[in-house]
Amino acid sequence: MSEATEVRVYEPSAELVRNAAVSGMDAYKALCAEAERDYEGYWARLAREHVTWQTPFTRTLNEDNRPFFKWFEDGKLNVSYNCLDRNIQAGLGDKTAIIFEADDGTVTRVTYSELLVRVSRLANALRAKGVKKGDRVVIYLPMSIEGIVAMQACARIGATHSVVFGGFSAQSLRDRISDAGAVMLITSDEQCRGGKNIPLKPIVDEAFGMGGCESCKTVIVYKRTGGACNMVEGRDVWLHDVLQGQADTCEPEWVEAEHPLFLLYTSGSTGKPKGVQHSSGGYLLHAILTMKWTFDIKPTDVFWCTADIGWVTGHTYITYGPLACGSTEIVFEGVPTYPDAGRFWKMIQDHKVSVFYTAPTAIRSLIKAADANEAVHPKSYDLSSLRILGSVGEPINPAAWEWYYQNVGGSRCPIVDTFWQTETGGHMITPLPGATPMIPGSCTLPFPGIQAAIVDETGNDVPWGQGGILVVKKPWPSMIRTIYGDPDRFVKSYYPADFQGRYYLAGDGAIRDAKTGYFTITGRIDDVLNVSGHRMGTMEIESALVAHPLVAEAAVVGRPDDLTGEAICAFVVLKRSRPTGDEAKQIANELRNWVGKEIGPIAKPKDLRFGDNLPKTRSGKIMRRLLRSIAKGEQITQDTSTLENPAILDQLAQTL
Ligand code: WT7
Repeated sequence: MSEATEVRVYEPSAELVRNAAVSGMDAYKALCAEAERDYEGYWARLAREHVTWQTPFTRTLNEDNRPFFKWFEDGKLNVSYNCLDRNIQAGLGDKTAIIFEADDGTVTRVTYSELLVRVSRLANALRAKGVKKGDRVVIYLPMSIEGIVAMQACARIGATHSVVFGGFSAQSLRDRISDAGAVMLITSDEQCRGGKNIPLKPIVDEAFGMGGCESCKTVIVYKRTGGACNMVEGRDVWLHDVLQGQADTCEPEWVEAEHPLFLLYTSGSTGKPKGVQHSSGGYLLHAILTMKWTFDIKPTDVFWCTADIGWVTGHTYITYGPLACGSTEIVFEGVPTYPDAGRFWKMIQDHKVSVFYTAPTAIRSLIKAADANEAVHPKSYDLSSLRILGSVGEPINPAAWEWYYQNVGGSRCPIVDTFWQTETGGHMITPLPGATPMIPGSCTLPFPGIQAAIVDETGNDVPWGQGGILVVKKPWPSMIRTIYGDPDRFVKSYYPADFQGRYYLAGDGAIRDAKTGYFTITGRIDDVLNVSGHRMGTMEIESALVAHPLVAEAAVVGRPDDLTGEAICAFVVLKRSRPTGDEAKQIANELRNWVGKEIGPIAKPKDLRFGDNLPKTRSGKIMRRLLRSIAKGEQITQDTSTLENPAILDQLAQTL
């Protein structure tokens, strides 16, 4: 893929600027200035204007127990009420909330009124099963209306959901149920992807079989396909059965703004995934604001975020943001390449999608497919309904940006390259489509009110043009509140002593353009990889590898990959001698599948190599820097004099 060399600036069209919620750079700057002048007043104003409160808040920000910040703490609200009831009261009851397209192309539409009934009935069923405010409910469902209904039903009764991505293994599911002490699990018999039915319920049974799920007394099963499904007496119940006889209305549980809306597990630098805890009030505010400002969402828009509800993007930009704004959104069950790689373009055409939000990995793979087959090229479809495009999850390389802009957006639609994280709840650094001039490869400027900055190891600002560590200097409403059950880890991970606990540490490196001040994210500065926009800890994969009976030691690093952004490269030392030839290939395969079973298919190393040892310093520290160079296929020019065993570098340089 050739990268553009000259820097081109793309201005939003005059028409877009005219009609945008944040219209022009002066409007953007005015919002930033307002936040600068009166930080709390700014957020309080927005929280009053955009969120419906049952009890208004009087205190905006409580910093007494920093970094455990509280926002709008004496206010009460219900997130599901904000997403459903208030839209219906505003006259949107008959508006389509969700257009669901199944893997096989079947389309189902649900209006706001219908959605409220479905959410209310399930919420009543959860209450009938004893789920109370503050209880944790794990949701392990494919992309479906039911998945969104399940999340909203939890929100309605004040239960805290923890969605586990349907691609995660039994072990990962078990760990998450156990860590959260969940009282209930909602799953389905199977899921449909790419024309295949993939069993889901057996994975649940396997997870329970591992022990540690004793807190979880009920498993509700949504019958998606009707395939064979084992039901455990006294524990498992069909969704359609628990809904029988439930009332169509459900009084929302009014919760404090700080009440935990959800936990979402994500990878960090150590082996164990962390349960990122989000609030209700502050989180909802940012979901709404970013829908309105970053996506400039209008009543006539059809919004489509292609993420899965198993990731934070699916939480904020499928389950909560679009519904809270009363928009019509697409929910897609399938994969971008089935029945062919024109699926996304066909769906945009069929449903007249106007705001489209996807990941660079998807774009890169669809570029490849379109190059090979004109029939699946975007130009073979009518994409004239599009007005705004978005990108998320990893840096978008300028070549992919240009292709997306020209071929999907018809050189007419701004691309919002949104930088954010599971922990931030919503967009942090992003262009606003009717204001910010865009430069491919840069996520441009902070969302109004977000105090993003780049500092050195001691926390001092670095000048523009110089790379450093990305931090956020002030707390913001949708930020992570804690790591569930591990507040110390929350403090250590995000408010480290390096900066005297003053700043939120994002974990990414970044640089600001010397002239424009635009931000470019340069990648993680910790041991976290980003593969196809999925976040994975190297230690997590290493732990999975060494759990295999053959493995003595393993080190995992990332290397750049044209398609997936980063690829996982594992260096493995076996307890027996180093295998070669076919045997090496066969063991490598076995280990790859093992990791797939331990964590999930997305964690399978692309590249796996064997050595008699790993490169270590005399004190026994693995030299990851060297491994990264080897993984990239670089000549080792670094100083290897501290290395105890230089000969193994040649071994590890050999691919299988
Ligand atoms: C990490 C967060 C944000 C929701 C999906 C991923 C990387 C995310 C961008 C972007 C460059 C990006 C960062 C970040 N990242 N968006 N627009 N440009 N990098 O959420 O799994 O919590 O991962 O994804 O490295 O820290 P996540």
